[in-house]
Amino acid sequence: MAMNILTILQNEYMRDFILARAKTYGKYTGLPSEWIPTIIEILTNMSYDSELAIKAVQKEFPQLINTSSEYHEKLRKYRIRKVEQIAERINPFLKNGTVLDFGGQTTDLLEALINKNERISQGFVNGINKDEIIQNESEKIAFTEQISLSETTLGTKSVDTIIVSLVLHHMNVQEREKLINHFTKILKKKGILILIEDTFSETRVQRECDSITDMFLNKFSFEEKMQLLSFLDWQGNRLTRPHPSVPLHYTFKSIEGWCQLFKTFGFNLTNEQFFCNVDEDSIDLIPPKAFMVFRLN
Ligand SMILES: C[S@@+](CC[C@H](N)C(=O)[O-])C[C@H]1O[C@@H](n2cnc3c(N)ncnc32)[C@H](O)[C@@H]1O
Repeated sequence: MAMNILTILQNEYMRDFILARAKTYGKYTGLPSEWIPTIIEILTNMSYDSELAIKAVQKEFPQLINTSSEYHEKLRKYRIRKVEQIAERINPFLKNGTVLDFGGQTTDLLEALINKNERISQGFVNGINKDEIIQNESEKIAFTEQISLSETTLGTKSVDTIIVSLVLHHMNVQEREKLINHFTKILKKKGILILIEDTFSETRVQRECDSITDMFLNKFSFEEKMQLLSFLDWQGNRLTRPHPSVPLHYTFKSIEGWCQLFKTFGFNLTNEQFFCNVDEDSIDLIPPKAFMVFRLN
């Protein structure tokens, strides 16, 4: 039987975390804080069926699915700020030459990077839903078709930097391994891969985190953290920013797990940051998230 994503709301501690995290998230993304208790209450009461629960929440707050609503206007503004910040963060790690934003779906990140960095000669973007791709304005950006879920049409050793932001936990484990293998083929020698993931460290003690992230890191077991990441993924892609076409596989890994996986494909970690505080300068990586940079041997 398929996992019921809402079951964890029956656990008081997990529900408290979800409520607190939703308030922080809402503060930056525009989700009104006064909606949050009602949303969580509906989801908890209807946790036996997530599809029915979403419909009930949308009935109560139709602005969630009305793309002309004030809420969606705030979401669009949040996206603009987020992309600007993430581009600032990524820029120092880019190699000169070509960049692939794998699963980028829109061209906004590449546009922001190209505006900042004239040493980018060409940007490629792809996504599983071609109809949803927002057309680019830059001649330097091309949409690249996918041959399959784990293969692009890009040629051998044609890419200098690959960005994979919040994509890999949306893939099943077999497809994902095929994809990482594909990355090793299209990336040039010493090419860079930037991975952004919802994750946490299994071994490191994280100090000076905000109280919500501290709760996440210290109150819950590994298994519970994975369940919470899955819930947040469902909430983000089905409820607060509905993207029904994004596949939800919940194949999260810890930071150490990602390093181990990429190592088996010949990548070495060169930089890693876990974000455990959110403020005006870090709204692009609302915790728990990590930014990892790998170099292909
Ligand atoms: C949460 S969104 C992240 C989008 C963007 N990278 C960002 O950080 O804002 C997940 C994206 O993963 C993409 N995706 C999931 N599986 C994919 C696959 N096998 N191939 C290409 N894109 C995929 C979806 O199209 C979706 O755009």
